[in-house]
Amino acid sequence: MPLTIGVPKETFAGEKRVASVPDVVEKLIKLGFAVRVERGAGDAANFADAIYEAAGATIAPDAASLWSSSDIVLKVRAPNTAEVGLMKEGQTLIGFLWPAQNPELMQQLAAKKVTVLAIDALPRTLSRAQKMDALTSQAGVAGYRAVIEAANAFGRFFNGQITAAGKVPPAKVFIAGAGVAGLAAIGTAAGLGAIVRANDTRAEVADQVVSLGGEFVKVDYEEEGSGGGGYAKVMSEGFQQAQREMYAKQAREVDIIITTALIPGKPAPKLITAEMVQSMKPGSVIVDMAAEQGGNCELTEPGQAVVKHGVTIIGYTDLVSRLARQSSTLYATNLQRLTEELCKTKDGVINVNMEDDAIRGLTVIKDGEITWPAPAPKVAPAPAPKPAAAPPEKKSAHGHGAGAPMAGRSLAMLFGGGAVLFWLVGAFAPASFLSHFTVFVLACFVGYMVVWNVTPALHTPLMSVTNAISSIIAIGALVQVAPPLEGVADGRPSSWILGLAVFALVLTAINMFGGFAVTRRMLAMFRK
Ligand code: NAI
Repeated sequence: MPLTIGVPKETFAGEKRVASVPDVVEKLIKLGFAVRVERGAGDAANFADAIYEAAGATIAPDAASLWSSSDIVLKVRAPNTAEVGLMKEGQTLIGFLWPAQNPELMQQLAAKKVTVLAIDALPRTLSRAQKMDALTSQAGVAGYRAVIEAANAFGRFFNGQITAAGKVPPAKVFIAGAGVAGLAAIGTAAGLGAIVRANDTRAEVADQVVSLGGEFVKVDYEEEGSGGGGYAKVMSEGFQQAQREMYAKQAREVDIIITTALIPGKPAPKLITAEMVQSMKPGSVIVDMAAEQGGNCELTEPGQAVVKHGVTIIGYTDLVSRLARQSSTLYATNLQRLTEELCKTKDGVINVNMEDDAIRGLTVIKDGEITWPAPAPKVAPAPAPKPAAAPPEKKSAHGHGAGAPMAGRSLAMLFGGGAVLFWLVGAFAPASFLSHFTVFVLACFVGYMVVWNVTPALHTPLMSVTNAISSIIAIGALVQVAPPLEGVADGRPSSWILGLAVFALVLTAINMFGGFAVTRRMLAMFRK
């Protein structure tokens, strides 16, 4: 018996998102489910009831009817008390829940004997869980919108321009915290043509900042800020002092600051002081994305845009909802991916498989039993620690221990083996073979060095340029394989050979010039 998926209208004040969109409804129906949408659920995100109906959904007249006729309910925000009251035993709820922050809600839901999958509890380090990562998709939208809000409040262009009416310098944007939202903000601001700088306590994000067109500004203090799982840790007082000095300098120089710094479960670190705001140029803008967690700026007022010391400080907490159509579409796709994981049989029935790391992580209540927090996923185990009592490794007779020197030894063996092989080839194969073989070995070596020494981010343009170069080789090959012109009276190839050769040349030319053109375009995306 196929299950019914219900999509209620969100009840949280100001929430414009909806948990599923018509395109996704179609896909859920293909998985075998029936879909019911509450009247007006998608209105605020510009998805009218009629479009849901056209996609195959039925419309429920009100919340009570929706909740009572659904086996699985997809939501954005955690349910309120009234919604919990509408739930029935055996129902499954999927949406944001924040179990750590909502212990009472967890108890209420458990008492209802329902199953709850909290999308915020997804183990984010699992690579196969990325397609379901709603925190990432929503933070990306928020980061984008933060820049748009900043641009709206800022009285100048983002990009530099030289016009007949004068020269306009590009805006300078500083992004504090380069997590998901911060990186999206960097990409957006750079795309608008601003000079973008960013800082984060986790040094590992520096490359990502640069690849998105930003400049990573380091704090002049040695301390690693990674707290595991892609999140930060609280930094030492010495670091914080050095960071404040750097931020004060940036505040004097830049036009826009977007702050996204957050450590899970902690109040947002105060990074922008009142004096820093005062030191900014009049007309500058601060967007404090961490406003809901207390704010990264001392003068932020959550949910408001205020002007203090001539600086507009935006503390909106509904940035995602301000782009409701986009965020709903991404969120709905995350939930669709999750539904696919739950319904591998494609027959409209779900299986909450607690053996699956991703599903286990998400499931915070199973049939009325609280199963949160989940144990750490079994994947990506830390390298096994060496037994404490293990004796120190002895050096071998040649002075080599285990580990790196072993690599040296195997390299020597490899080279030795290669030399012997070469000698054998030289001794027994014809001379022409040896020269081809040498070229082949060198080509393998050069290819290996090129692929392994090029940053992974540049592998796509590398493939494209090697593809283009391979066409040049094809032209050479064409000349090589041209048959001897026997039987051709005037020494010219017969017309069909000529025709084929010309055709081949045209094709390789397209590949070659096209390949170089595409590479140029790709590389241009990395240049700033
Ligand atoms: P995230 O955890 O991916 O990123 C936070 C980043 O801040 C991390 O890279 C972390 O290393 C960095 N950080 C922590 N302490 C720092 C410090 N002292 N100095 C510099 N960097 C520091 O979080 P995500 O998903 O990017 O979200 C960022 C913020 O945006 C959060 O506060 C989140 O609640 C908020 N947010 C706000 C929305 C809104 O409507 N206002 C919507 C979505 C997210």
